[in-house]
Amino acid sequence: MLGFFGIHFFGYPQSLFVHLNRNFKLMAFDHLSPNVSQEEAIKFFKNVVGDRNVLTDPSDLQSWGTDWTRVFEPRPMCIVKPASTEEVSRLLAYCWSNELAVTPSGGRTGLCAGAVATHGEVVINLSRMNRIIDVDAIGLTLTAEAGVTTEALQEAAKSKGLFFPLDLASKGSCQIGGNIATNAGGVKLIRYGGTREQVLGLEVVLANGDVLDMNVALRKNNSGYDLKHLFIGSEGTLGIVTKAVLRLMPKPRNLQLAIMATDEFVKIPEILRKSSLAGVSITAFEFFTEVAHRIVLKHLPGARTPFQELSKFYVLLEVEQPGAEPEIESLLETLFEAGLISDASIATNSTQFKEFWGLRENITESLAAHGQVRKNDISLAIDKLDGFVKSLEALLVTKKPKDMELVLFGHIGDGNLHINYVSPKSRDSQEFHKEARAIEEDVFKLLAKFKGSISAEHGIGLTKKKDLHFTRTPDEVSWMKKTKAVFDPKGILNPGKIFDL
Ligand code: FAD
Ligand code: MLT
Ligand code: ZN
Repeated sequence: MLGFFGIHFFGYPQSLFVHLNRNFKLMAFDHLSPNVSQEEAIKFFKNVVGDRNVLTDPSDLQSWGTDWTRVFEPRPMCIVKPASTEEVSRLLAYCWSNELAVTPSGGRTGLCAGAVATHGEVVINLSRMNRIIDVDAIGLTLTAEAGVTTEALQEAAKSKGLFFPLDLASKGSCQIGGNIATNAGGVKLIRYGGTREQVLGLEVVLANGDVLDMNVALRKNNSGYDLKHLFIGSEGTLGIVTKAVLRLMPKPRNLQLAIMATDEFVKIPEILRKSSLAGVSITAFEFFTEVAHRIVLKHLPGARTPFQELSKFYVLLEVEQPGAEPEIESLLETLFEAGLISDASIATNSTQFKEFWGLRENITESLAAHGQVRKNDISLAIDKLDGFVKSLEALLVTKKPKDMELVLFGHIGDGNLHINYVSPKSRDSQEFHKEARAIEEDVFKLLAKFKGSISAEHGIGLTKKKDLHFTRTPDEVSWMKKTKAVFDPKGILNPGKIFDL
């Protein structure tokens, strides 16, 4: 489960779903002509996975047909929960022959509506495929089915004295299949890389039901194209991930954690530079603003700030300290002397360690409790961050409505900035999104000038598909579409996500 608040799904009138389900064909995609009735299809699915693993109840369709975004209305045909690769293969072969659109789904924590079924799709949810198959403590690999949560993978590695480095606040709910499909980043990317770097082998079921085994999990393998990389970050549009072999590593030793306060954004890249030059082994370098901090203090039960007075910006620095020397203390002294930080606090025990991380990791859920949120997840070269943030602030002086707060945080050590537009819950939702969208477009135009990306880690899904051109050239998009046509020429897998066909 996610943190303190759990997943919040908003409710839609049930009658709407009943109506839409009866008229399933009306919602179908133009490029598909389903040639079975909904009743026949559901009968087949029940035959494959068992009656109780096909959900058609309106409230199930709402909660299992959507993700964390809550922007698009979910309208799936049904939710199907297979228990094996063979079942996934049979389901896809049937959908392929009968031109039924399919949306793969994992823990439904996605932040770009990649797992939202808006057009009568068959949602294939991997939750029941949650077996850890093997932990190889000599080869340092872990083999798991796609529905295992990220946290369960971490625990399995830990139980053998090892470490699985992918780490994100949604780890209790998100699944490795979803992580792979989104190429999730998280808080440890600065040290260990993102999901792509952890995947050694993959098993994927293709749109027509064929099982593609890319499971030869060697650390070195230069024999031709490495096809697994096409599926990593493909957001369920090229195949359904059913199994993965992941890299493990030795547990980091003696982690030290500090929160530092600083008054100017420009100092943050400098803090990073000085920390790297000091030779400390950085395992996380995160940042959040005073506004983000206040919102967490307000909404997270038991949250406390370690500071007497609040500052404009905070950096959370985690380092591994292999020797006895308390490197983080001398680093903080250097940063104070250089005038880069005004206050700092080092976690002195495991409770404080958790508390400090909680102040960063609970931002998303606190924002959801605080107001209506629209999210951007951008990345830039680190040396361009300050110029961009200054231009962003200037832009917002004229553009931002009075009751909208701009909340910045993110994996700043990777050049990844999360921009959140937050308005009171009482605001009309459509108006809020219209206003925030107008600002967002200007922000993306600005970002393009700084040669940044509109998605650092969350993906494109539905929320950003009209903005893909800000980051990718027409040639790149054209080759993406050609790749899609090779693996899924009928376009049954997650249609409408990333780009329209
Ligand atoms: P879902 O939301 O279910 O699906 C995401 C996409 O993957 C969809 O396109 C879906 O069709 C596809 N998919 C799912 N399973 C499969 C499969 N087996 N095969 C093929 N396609 C599949 N993201 C980060 O990158 N970094 C963070 O730090 C981070 N922190 C978060 C914190 C919170 C509190 C929340 C709510 C979200 C956060 N996220 C973060 C976003 C989200 O958790 C990630 O994108 C995660 O990887 C999604 O996994 P999921 O299993 O929930 O996927
Ligand atoms: C995070 O870094 O906490 C996540 O990416 C979630 C978010 O952007 O809200
Ligand atoms: Zn993030």
